[in-house]
Amino acid sequence: MPSSTTSEKGSASSPATFRFRCIGCASIAGSAAQDFRCAQCGNLLEITDSSWNSQNPAALKSLWRERRTLNEALDLSGVWRFRELLPVPASEEHVVTLREGNTPLYELPQSSRNTGVPRLYAKHQGMNPTGSFKDAGMTVAATFARQAGYRWVACASTGNTSASMAAYAARGGMRSLVLVPEGKISWSKLSQALDYGALTCQLRTDFDGCLRLLQELVRRAPVYQLNSINPFRLEGQKTLALELLEQLEWEPPDHIIVPGGNLGNSSAIGKALLEMLEIGLISRLPKLSVIQAEGANALVRTLRETGGKNLVSVQAETRATAIRIGNPASWEKAVKVLQATGGACEQVSEIEMAQAKAEIGAEGIGCEPASAVTLAGLKKLLQQGFVKPQETVVLVLTGNLLKDPDFTMDFHRGELFKDTAHERESAKLNSFRHPPAVLDATLEAVIKTLEQAEKSDPTQTNG
Ligand code: F0G
Repeated sequence: MPSSTTSEKGSASSPATFRFRCIGCASIAGSAAQDFRCAQCGNLLEITDSSWNSQNPAALKSLWRERRTLNEALDLSGVWRFRELLPVPASEEHVVTLREGNTPLYELPQSSRNTGVPRLYAKHQGMNPTGSFKDAGMTVAATFARQAGYRWVACASTGNTSASMAAYAARGGMRSLVLVPEGKISWSKLSQALDYGALTCQLRTDFDGCLRLLQELVRRAPVYQLNSINPFRLEGQKTLALELLEQLEWEPPDHIIVPGGNLGNSSAIGKALLEMLEIGLISRLPKLSVIQAEGANALVRTLRETGGKNLVSVQAETRATAIRIGNPASWEKAVKVLQATGGACEQVSEIEMAQAKAEIGAEGIGCEPASAVTLAGLKKLLQQGFVKPQETVVLVLTGNLLKDPDFTMDFHRGELFKDTAHERESAKLNSFRHPPAVLDATLEAVIKTLEQAEKSDPTQTNG
């Protein structure tokens, strides 16, 4: 990008200045192979651009703010609005956008009271066009797939990536191939892929098996892989952090807490934070912490058992199907940013996650189960003294409540933990449940139910 930041409000066209850098041996390349791995050492690639460092931080902040008032397609996107810190395509015509980003930062008054953290916020990425944080990365990666002239794009997914990829492929005039574990993803995510026209394969394996197969496929067939191994995805996902800091008037929070699955998102947020510090957009780093489900805790174990040196893979099992991942592809990137920002890595139980999800629902915003690990994790980090009550904390909610209605219905009907090892313990969640009442269609029956609810309402006041 040219270093002037004021002359090109609606344009993304410029010669490419970005390069691929290996996260292992740091070798630089102008192009990347289909598997996005380093030709020298086989480690993952990331994108770097020397022009990012020559930007004037004050000029960038005012340019990005000004763009929020403009009506050009690129400026309406909460991702491309930050294009000075993204790889940009050769021509604006290639850009595939659904007005992603621009997601709200909510206060969480009830959770603030419950946890004793007055400055507690949720950055709700579930408010993206397809209902998850994946859209922020997909707009960038789909754009580069289109620019490269690919007819087919492909991903392995626990559901959200496939929904997002299918949508962006459809908008960009490409075909999409989805590999998902059979019976292990929510119907609403699967239905999105179908509706957006993806060729959807439900494979008799888990997510890790799907991803392994995709790695082989991209070497044999002319498909472009849109998993988060694709570094363009992570560049788009960086904008979550840029937008968050803009919403906080560039005053960094003390903590950002994010769920961890394949570990692309934590890597992207961490990369953004480090770049922002280097450019001078922020003056100190928030601590970036990753929370996993106990049954899918590869990063937790990797850090505890090997100090982050070797991946400890696990056989993943959790009702939060989005993060049911045992062999996370971006674990090395995540270890680096966790260590660079001084963040923590924790795990939470199925019960803790279910309670946190109900609490976020009771705030009137809701989220999918995987996102709720952030609030459950915060409680643990407070207990450990890692997070202090007077600090500012941002939870990243990655998916919309409507992404997993089965989980929510099972929870409220009291069936989520039926016939599982957690059944007894789950009794403590009863006060969070709001099961539907099935009644005769009479006025008396409804009034009686209303009166009973009023009597048993703990929040009832005379005012
Ligand atoms: N939250 C949700 C709602 C997700 O869908 C995912 C990952 C994560 C958190 C974890 O993010 O992988 O970047 O660490 N979903 C992927 C998918 C794997 O295929 O939709 P991560």
